Amino acid sequence: MQSPMTYAVETRDLTRIFAGKKKRRFRRKAGSNGSEDSLGPVTALDGVSLGIKEGELFGMLGPNGAGKTTLIKILATLLLPTAGQAFVAGHDVAKDPFPIRQRINMVSGGETSGYGLLTARENIWMFSQFYGVPSKVSKERIDDLMHIFGLWDKRDAKVRMLSTGQRQKMNMIRGFVTDPDILFLDEPTLGLDVNAARVIREYVMNWVRKRAGKTVLLTSHYMAEADQMCDRIAIIDKGRILACDTPANLKRMIRTETTFQLEVDTIRDTTSFVGLRGVKNFSHKDDISKNRSHLTFILEDEGPVAEILSSITSQGAKVHSLQKSEPTLEDVFISMVGRGLD
Ligand SMILES: Nc1ncnc2c1ncn2[C@@H]1O[C@H](COP(=O)(O)OP(=O)(O)O)[C@@H](O)[C@H]1O
Ligand SMILES: [Mg+2]
Repeated sequence: MQSPMTYAVETRDLTRIFAGKKKRRFRRKAGSNGSEDSLGPVTALDGVSLGIKEGELFGMLGPNGAGKTTLIKILATLLLPTAGQAFVAGHDVAKDPFPIRQRINMVSGGETSGYGLLTARENIWMFSQFYGVPSKVSKERIDDLMHIFGLWDKRDAKVRMLSTGQRQKMNMIRGFVTDPDILFLDEPTLGLDVNAARVIREYVMNWVRKRAGKTVLLTSHYMAEADQMCDRIAIIDKGRILACDTPANLKRMIRTETTFQLEVDTIRDTTSFVGLRGVKNFSHKDDISKNRSHLTFILEDEGPVAEILSSITSQGAKVHSLQKSEPTLEDVFISMVGRGLD
Protein backbone atom coordinates (compact mmCIF):
# COMPACT_ATOMS: atom_id res chain seq x y z
CA MET A 1 0.00 0.00 0.00
CA GLN A 2 1.29 3.42 -0.92
CA SER A 3 1.23 6.32 1.48
CA PRO A 4 -1.06 9.02 0.10
CA MET A 5 1.21 11.87 1.19
CA THR A 6 4.70 12.54 -0.07
CA TYR A 7 6.42 12.10 3.25
CA ALA A 8 9.84 10.49 3.30
CA VAL A 9 8.81 8.82 6.53
CA GLU A 10 5.34 8.54 7.97
CA THR A 11 4.05 6.59 10.94
CA ARG A 12 0.46 6.18 12.08
CA ASP A 13 -0.20 5.04 15.60
CA LEU A 14 2.93 2.98 15.41
CA THR A 15 3.18 0.61 18.34
CA ARG A 16 5.79 -1.96 19.24
CA ILE A 17 5.44 -4.23 22.21
CA PHE A 18 8.23 -6.58 23.18
CA ALA A 19 7.06 -9.80 24.72
CA GLY A 20 8.20 -10.30 28.28
CA LYS A 21 11.57 -11.88 28.45
CA LYS A 22 13.28 -13.92 31.10
CA LYS A 23 16.15 -12.10 32.58
CA ARG A 24 18.69 -13.89 34.65
CA ARG A 25 19.23 -11.64 37.60
CA PHE A 26 22.42 -13.19 38.87
CA ARG A 27 24.31 -16.40 38.50
CA ARG A 28 24.80 -18.73 41.43
CA LYS A 29 27.44 -21.34 41.97
CA ALA A 30 26.92 -24.65 40.19
CA GLY A 31 24.42 -26.84 42.01
CA SER A 32 22.20 -24.06 43.32
CA ASN A 33 19.23 -22.61 41.47
CA GLY A 34 19.85 -19.50 39.40
CA SER A 35 17.24 -16.87 40.09
CA GLU A 36 15.28 -15.89 37.03
CA ASP A 37 12.98 -12.94 36.80
CA SER A 38 10.19 -12.87 34.30
CA LEU A 39 9.72 -9.36 32.97
CA GLY A 40 6.35 -8.32 31.65
CA PRO A 41 5.81 -7.04 28.10
CA VAL A 42 7.48 -3.73 27.29
CA THR A 43 5.70 -1.12 25.19
CA ALA A 44 8.66 0.44 23.40
CA LEU A 45 6.51 2.54 21.04
CA ASP A 46 3.05 3.60 22.08
CA GLY A 47 1.02 5.07 19.21
CA VAL A 48 3.65 7.16 17.46
CA SER A 49 2.34 9.30 14.58
CA LEU A 50 4.93 11.31 12.68
CA GLY A 51 5.47 12.80 9.25
CA ILE A 52 8.98 13.57 8.08
CA LYS A 53 9.17 15.55 4.88
CA GLU A 54 11.57 14.86 2.08
CA GLY A 55 14.65 17.05 2.55
CA GLU A 56 14.26 17.33 6.30
CA LEU A 57 16.89 16.74 8.92
CA PHE A 58 14.64 15.39 11.62
CA GLY A 59 15.67 14.58 15.18
CA MET A 60 14.26 12.22 17.77
CA LEU A 61 15.32 13.43 21.17
CA GLY A 62 14.75 11.31 24.23
CA PRO A 63 16.37 9.57 27.18
CA ASN A 64 17.64 5.99 27.20
CA GLY A 65 14.81 3.54 26.77
CA ALA A 66 12.50 6.10 25.14
CA GLY A 67 12.02 3.96 22.03
CA LYS A 68 14.35 5.71 19.58
CA THR A 69 16.26 2.64 18.41
CA THR A 70 13.06 0.63 18.14
CA LEU A 71 11.58 3.27 15.85
CA ILE A 72 14.70 3.39 13.67
CA LYS A 73 14.78 -0.40 13.41
CA ILE A 74 11.15 -0.55 12.31
CA LEU A 75 11.74 2.14 9.67
CA ALA A 76 14.86 0.32 8.48
CA THR A 77 12.71 -2.83 8.10
CA LEU A 78 14.72 -4.74 10.69
CA LEU A 79 11.82 -5.08 13.11
CA LEU A 80 8.07 -5.35 12.55
CA PRO A 81 5.47 -3.12 14.18
CA THR A 82 3.04 -4.74 16.64
CA ALA A 83 0.28 -2.34 15.57
CA GLY A 84 -0.10 0.77 13.48
CA GLN A 85 1.71 1.54 10.26
CA ALA A 86 4.98 2.95 9.03
CA PHE A 87 5.80 4.13 5.52
CA VAL A 88 9.25 4.88 4.19
CA ALA A 89 9.55 6.47 0.76
CA GLY A 90 5.85 5.71 0.39
CA HIS A 91 6.16 1.97 1.04
CA ASP A 92 4.70 0.07 3.94
CA VAL A 93 7.55 -1.35 6.06
CA ALA A 94 5.57 -4.48 6.87
CA LYS A 95 4.28 -5.26 3.37
CA ASP A 96 6.85 -3.84 1.04
CA PRO A 97 10.33 -3.80 2.60
CA PHE A 98 12.42 -4.46 -0.53
CA PRO A 99 12.04 -1.12 -2.35
CA ILE A 100 12.63 0.59 1.02
CA ARG A 101 15.93 -1.20 1.55
CA GLN A 102 17.24 0.03 -1.79
CA ARG A 103 16.72 3.65 -0.81
CA ILE A 104 17.85 3.75 2.80
CA ASN A 105 20.91 3.23 4.91
CA MET A 106 21.33 3.11 8.64
CA VAL A 107 24.24 3.71 10.96
CA SER A 108 24.22 3.29 14.69
CA GLY A 109 26.76 5.15 16.82
CA GLY A 110 27.10 2.32 19.27
CA GLU A 111 27.70 -0.51 16.80
CA THR A 112 31.02 -2.27 16.51
CA SER A 113 30.49 -3.85 13.14
CA GLY A 114 33.18 -4.47 10.55
CA TYR A 115 35.35 -7.38 9.58
CA GLY A 116 38.49 -7.10 11.67
CA LEU A 117 40.72 -8.73 9.09
CA LEU A 118 39.85 -6.32 6.31
CA THR A 119 41.25 -2.82 6.10
CA ALA A 120 38.99 0.16 6.74
CA ARG A 121 38.78 0.88 3.05
CA GLU A 122 38.12 -2.75 2.08
CA ASN A 123 35.34 -2.94 4.65
CA ILE A 124 33.48 0.07 3.30
CA TRP A 125 34.05 -1.05 -0.28
CA MET A 126 32.71 -4.53 0.43
CA PHE A 127 29.62 -3.06 2.03
CA SER A 128 29.05 -0.80 -1.00
CA GLN A 129 29.16 -3.90 -3.19
CA PHE A 130 26.27 -5.43 -1.22
CA TYR A 131 24.29 -2.38 -2.33
CA GLY A 132 25.45 -2.67 -5.92
CA VAL A 133 27.34 0.61 -6.05
CA PRO A 134 29.59 0.51 -9.14
CA SER A 135 33.12 -0.22 -8.00
CA LYS A 136 34.73 2.88 -9.49
CA VAL A 137 32.06 5.20 -8.08
CA SER A 138 32.39 3.52 -4.72
CA LYS A 139 36.18 3.91 -4.62
CA GLU A 140 35.94 7.61 -5.42
CA ARG A 141 33.30 8.17 -2.75
CA ILE A 142 35.28 6.22 -0.17
CA ASP A 143 38.45 8.20 -0.79
CA ASP A 144 36.56 11.51 -0.60
CA LEU A 145 34.77 10.52 2.58
CA MET A 146 37.93 9.19 4.22
CA HIS A 147 39.59 12.56 3.66
CA ILE A 148 36.58 14.47 5.00
CA PHE A 149 36.23 12.32 8.12
CA GLY A 150 39.97 12.39 8.84
CA LEU A 151 40.36 8.66 8.28
CA TRP A 152 42.65 8.82 5.25
CA ASP A 153 45.73 7.94 7.28
CA LYS A 154 43.97 4.80 8.43
CA ARG A 155 42.72 3.68 5.04
CA ASP A 156 44.95 0.62 4.97
CA ALA A 157 44.76 -0.18 8.68
CA LYS A 158 42.98 -3.38 9.67
CA VAL A 159 39.62 -2.65 11.27
CA ARG A 160 40.57 -4.43 14.48
CA MET A 161 43.43 -1.93 14.87
CA LEU A 162 41.10 1.09 14.74
CA SER A 163 40.06 3.01 17.84
CA THR A 164 36.36 3.16 18.75
CA GLY A 165 36.09 6.65 17.29
CA GLN A 166 37.83 5.66 14.06
CA ARG A 167 35.58 2.66 13.69
CA GLN A 168 32.58 4.88 14.23
CA LYS A 169 33.78 7.22 11.49
CA MET A 170 34.22 4.20 9.24
CA ASN A 171 30.63 3.19 9.94
CA MET A 172 29.44 6.71 9.13
CA ILE A 173 31.23 6.53 5.78
CA ARG A 174 29.47 3.22 5.23
CA GLY A 175 26.19 5.12 5.65
CA PHE A 176 26.99 7.71 2.99
CA VAL A 177 28.81 5.54 0.47
CA THR A 178 25.59 4.05 -0.89
CA ASP A 179 24.18 7.56 -1.40
CA PRO A 180 20.81 6.69 0.19
CA ASP A 181 17.74 8.91 -0.20
CA ILE A 182 16.86 8.40 3.45
CA LEU A 183 19.52 7.92 6.08
CA PHE A 184 18.80 6.75 9.61
CA LEU A 185 21.44 7.71 12.15
CA ASP A 186 20.99 6.24 15.61
CA GLU A 187 23.00 8.34 18.06
CA PRO A 188 25.72 9.02 15.47
CA THR A 189 28.07 10.89 17.79
CA LEU A 190 27.64 8.71 20.87
CA GLY A 191 30.86 8.76 22.86
CA LEU A 192 32.89 10.56 20.21
CA ASP A 193 35.39 13.26 21.08
CA VAL A 194 34.39 16.86 20.41
CA ASN A 195 36.25 17.16 17.12
CA ALA A 196 35.06 13.90 15.62
CA ALA A 197 31.49 14.73 16.66
CA ARG A 198 31.74 18.15 15.03
CA VAL A 199 33.04 16.73 11.74
CA ILE A 200 30.16 14.26 11.63
CA ARG A 201 27.51 16.85 12.50
CA GLU A 202 28.71 19.26 9.86
CA TYR A 203 28.94 16.61 7.20
CA VAL A 204 25.40 15.40 7.92
CA MET A 205 24.01 18.95 7.84
CA ASN A 206 25.73 19.72 4.54
CA TRP A 207 24.70 16.44 3.05
CA VAL A 208 21.01 17.14 3.65
CA ARG A 209 21.05 20.82 2.79
CA LYS A 210 23.17 20.75 -0.34
CA ARG A 211 21.51 17.85 -2.10
CA ALA A 212 17.92 17.83 -3.16
CA GLY A 213 15.73 15.04 -1.92
CA LYS A 214 17.93 13.72 0.89
CA THR A 215 16.29 13.06 4.23
CA VAL A 216 17.94 12.26 7.56
CA LEU A 217 16.31 10.94 10.70
CA LEU A 218 18.72 11.02 13.59
CA THR A 219 18.27 10.14 17.21
CA SER A 220 20.17 11.79 19.98
CA HIS A 221 20.15 12.36 23.65
CA TYR A 222 22.40 15.38 23.26
CA MET A 223 20.28 18.53 23.42
CA ALA A 224 22.78 20.87 21.83
CA GLU A 225 23.30 18.48 18.94
CA ALA A 226 19.61 18.22 18.14
CA ASP A 227 19.19 21.96 18.56
CA GLN A 228 22.07 22.81 16.24
CA MET A 229 21.39 20.24 13.54
CA CYS A 230 17.70 19.57 13.17
CA ASP A 231 14.99 21.31 11.18
CA ARG A 232 12.44 19.70 13.45
CA ILE A 233 12.62 17.66 16.61
CA ALA A 234 10.26 15.16 18.15
CA ILE A 235 10.65 14.78 21.89
CA ILE A 236 10.00 11.17 22.80
CA ASP A 237 9.67 9.57 26.21
CA LYS A 238 8.33 6.14 27.15
CA GLY A 239 7.34 5.41 23.56
CA ARG A 240 5.22 8.53 23.13
CA ILE A 241 5.83 11.73 21.21
CA LEU A 242 5.42 14.61 23.64
CA ALA A 243 6.05 17.43 21.19
CA CYS A 244 7.20 17.87 17.61
CA ASP A 245 8.30 21.19 16.20
CA THR A 246 11.28 23.32 15.16
CA PRO A 247 13.88 23.87 17.90
CA ALA A 248 12.92 27.56 18.01
CA ASN A 249 9.21 26.82 18.41
CA LEU A 250 9.87 24.22 21.07
CA LYS A 251 11.81 26.78 23.04
CA ARG A 252 9.12 29.38 22.50
CA MET A 253 6.53 27.01 23.95
CA ILE A 254 8.01 27.35 27.40
CA ARG A 255 9.07 30.94 27.17
CA THR A 256 6.88 31.94 30.06
CA GLU A 257 9.60 33.75 31.94
CA THR A 258 12.60 35.77 30.90
CA THR A 259 15.83 36.03 32.80
CA PHE A 260 17.89 39.22 32.64
CA GLN A 261 21.34 39.60 34.05
CA LEU A 262 22.83 43.02 34.62
CA GLU A 263 26.24 44.16 35.71
CA VAL A 264 26.15 47.67 37.15
CA ASP A 265 28.18 49.97 39.41
CA THR A 266 27.63 48.99 43.02
CA ILE A 267 24.21 50.20 44.01
CA ARG A 268 22.98 50.77 47.52
CA ASP A 269 19.26 50.82 47.12
CA THR A 270 17.67 47.69 45.72
CA THR A 271 14.33 48.16 47.46
CA SER A 272 12.91 49.92 44.43
CA PHE A 273 13.12 46.69 42.41
CA VAL A 274 11.19 44.58 44.84
CA GLY A 275 7.70 45.86 44.25
CA LEU A 276 8.09 46.39 40.51
CA ARG A 277 5.22 45.08 38.46
CA GLY A 278 6.18 42.02 36.41
CA VAL A 279 9.27 41.15 38.48
CA LYS A 280 8.81 37.60 39.68
CA ASN A 281 12.15 37.21 41.29
CA PHE A 282 15.22 39.28 41.92
CA SER A 283 18.68 38.51 43.22
CA HIS A 284 21.64 40.73 43.92
CA LYS A 285 25.33 40.05 44.44
CA ASP A 286 28.11 42.61 45.01
CA ASP A 287 31.63 42.27 43.66
CA ILE A 288 33.34 44.70 46.02
CA SER A 289 36.82 44.43 44.48
CA LYS A 290 35.48 45.62 41.14
CA ASN A 291 32.90 47.97 42.62
CA ARG A 292 30.19 46.22 40.67
CA SER A 293 26.80 44.69 41.43
CA HIS A 294 25.38 41.69 39.62
CA LEU A 295 21.62 41.76 39.38
CA THR A 296 19.43 38.92 38.14
CA PHE A 297 15.78 39.46 37.35
CA ILE A 298 13.21 36.81 36.54
CA LEU A 299 10.48 38.60 34.66
CA GLU A 300 7.05 37.62 33.43
CA ASP A 301 7.91 39.38 30.19
CA GLU A 302 10.22 42.14 29.04
CA GLY A 303 7.88 44.90 30.18
CA PRO A 304 9.70 45.99 33.36
CA VAL A 305 13.17 46.24 31.78
CA ALA A 306 12.91 49.95 31.00
CA GLU A 307 11.78 50.77 34.53
CA ILE A 308 14.60 48.71 36.04
CA LEU A 309 17.17 50.50 33.92
CA SER A 310 15.84 53.95 34.79
CA SER A 311 15.81 53.04 38.47
CA ILE A 312 19.48 52.09 38.26
CA THR A 313 20.59 55.15 36.32
CA SER A 314 18.60 57.47 38.59
CA GLN A 315 20.90 56.30 41.41
CA GLY A 316 23.84 57.50 39.35
CA ALA A 317 25.02 53.94 38.62
CA LYS A 318 26.21 52.91 35.19
CA VAL A 319 24.99 49.77 33.45
CA HIS A 320 27.98 47.77 32.16
CA SER A 321 26.19 44.84 30.66
CA LEU A 322 22.70 43.55 30.12
CA GLN A 323 22.11 39.94 29.18
CA LYS A 324 18.97 38.08 28.44
CA SER A 325 19.07 34.31 28.92
CA GLU A 326 17.15 32.27 26.38
CA PRO A 327 15.59 28.99 27.42
CA THR A 328 17.52 25.97 26.18
CA LEU A 329 16.13 22.81 24.71
CA GLU A 330 17.05 21.25 28.03
CA ASP A 331 14.57 23.58 29.76
CA VAL A 332 11.93 22.48 27.26
CA PHE A 333 12.70 18.86 27.88
CA ILE A 334 12.63 19.22 31.64
CA SER A 335 9.34 21.08 31.51
CA MET A 336 7.80 18.28 29.40
CA VAL A 337 9.34 15.14 30.77
CA GLY A 338 9.80 16.37 34.31
CA ARG A 339 13.46 15.43 34.41
CA GLY A 340 16.67 15.97 32.48
CA LEU A 341 18.05 13.70 29.79
CA ASP A 342 20.80 11.94 31.69
N1 LIG B 1 14.60 -6.88 21.92
C1 LIG B 1 13.99 -6.35 22.98
N2 LIG B 1 13.34 -7.13 23.88
C2 LIG B 1 12.71 -6.61 24.94
N3 LIG B 1 12.69 -5.29 25.22
C3 LIG B 1 13.32 -4.45 24.39
C4 LIG B 1 14.01 -4.93 23.22
N4 LIG B 1 14.54 -3.85 22.57
C5 LIG B 1 14.20 -2.77 23.30
N5 LIG B 1 13.47 -3.11 24.38
C6 LIG B 1 12.89 -2.20 25.38
O1 LIG B 1 12.14 -1.22 24.68
C7 LIG B 1 12.30 0.07 25.26
C8 LIG B 1 12.83 1.03 24.23
O2 LIG B 1 14.16 0.68 23.88
P1 LIG B 1 14.99 1.44 22.76
O3 LIG B 1 14.15 1.58 21.56
O4 LIG B 1 16.28 0.75 22.62
O5 LIG B 1 15.19 2.89 23.43
P2 LIG B 1 16.27 4.02 23.12
O6 LIG B 1 16.93 3.70 21.81
O7 LIG B 1 15.47 5.29 23.09
O8 LIG B 1 17.24 4.02 24.26
C9 LIG B 1 13.22 -0.13 26.45
O9 LIG B 1 12.42 -0.30 27.59
C10 LIG B 1 13.95 -1.41 26.11
O10 LIG B 1 14.35 -2.07 27.28
MG1 LIG C 1 18.92 3.55 21.36
